[in-house]
Amino acid sequence: MGSGYRILDEEQVEHFLDRGYVVINDCFSPEAAEKYTATIWTRLGYDRDDRSTWTEPATHLPAHREMDIKEFAPKAWDAVCDLVGGEDRIEQPYNWGDGFVVNLSQGSERPWEPASPQSPGWHKDGDFFRHFLDSPEQGLLTLVLWSDVRHQGGATFVAADSIAPIARFLAAHPEGILPTDFPYAELAGQCTEFAEATGRIGDVYLLHPYLLHAKSQNMLRLPRFITNPPVTLAEPMNFDRPNPSEFSLVERAVLRGLGVDHYTFTPTGERAEIVPERVLRQARMKTKEKARLAAQSSRPPGSHPDVKRRPPLLG
Ligand SMILES: [Fe+2]
Repeated sequence: MGSGYRILDEEQVEHFLDRGYVVINDCFSPEAAEKYTATIWTRLGYDRDDRSTWTEPATHLPAHREMDIKEFAPKAWDAVCDLVGGEDRIEQPYNWGDGFVVNLSQGSERPWEPASPQSPGWHKDGDFFRHFLDSPEQGLLTLVLWSDVRHQGGATFVAADSIAPIARFLAAHPEGILPTDFPYAELAGQCTEFAEATGRIGDVYLLHPYLLHAKSQNMLRLPRFITNPPVTLAEPMNFDRPNPSEFSLVERAVLRGLGVDHYTFTPTGERAEIVPERVLRQARMKTKEKARLAAQSSRPPGSHPDVKRRPPLLG
């Protein structure tokens, strides 16, 4: 070994610095995923066997349960530690919740469009805080695959060369930027390398927090379930560490994006938490979901009155 990393090999390190993300395979089993996702259809209020009940093409569910990934997905935890510069730099516990981002048929009524600067919905994650170059609130962006995610099946689009434009933009705005104030079209317009975050159940994409990404169309109309739990840093990032070997890979990627060896960043605006409309909407959804889950659990086992039955075969 000797790389100083828990789990990442040199190739993965270079991939992260070049392309802004790494994929860690088999972080949990299909059985574990099945257990955790079992109530999705009840929560949505849809019949999984009857597409006519799937009224929304995509839904971001609220979270009910949380678990510490150190126990649930230790490989993912080790990779997170490797990327942000060690366990001590992470606000713990680092939990994953069941706030699934469900994509059933997003955009399937239109012909397939591959990822491009013109794809709709490019954004940087973190709708809950004012953004600075060194923001700790979103230390990493994650995509946890709770279902298989196929090409043209709603896999997240990723702009693999978006770290540099975002880094330049945030460096030029020490006063901070509200999540709604990023000039996304202009920033995505500076990108030329795009990827589709496909994979298998149990795969975890760990992405640089600056990485622009967008929903893609689910032409296959196969249910796609992911979550995107942010990693929170214990302290803001530091691009001016006296010992360069202490820069995290996330910090190194920012410095590379800015084309410098170190960078003194001093925010001139207040760090601020923001309560996005999403949180209020999800609180309302959660109340409805709880009622559906309660109704489901009060039924005798095996009875599914919401599920349409085929008539019994004769003879
Ligand atoms: Fe996002």
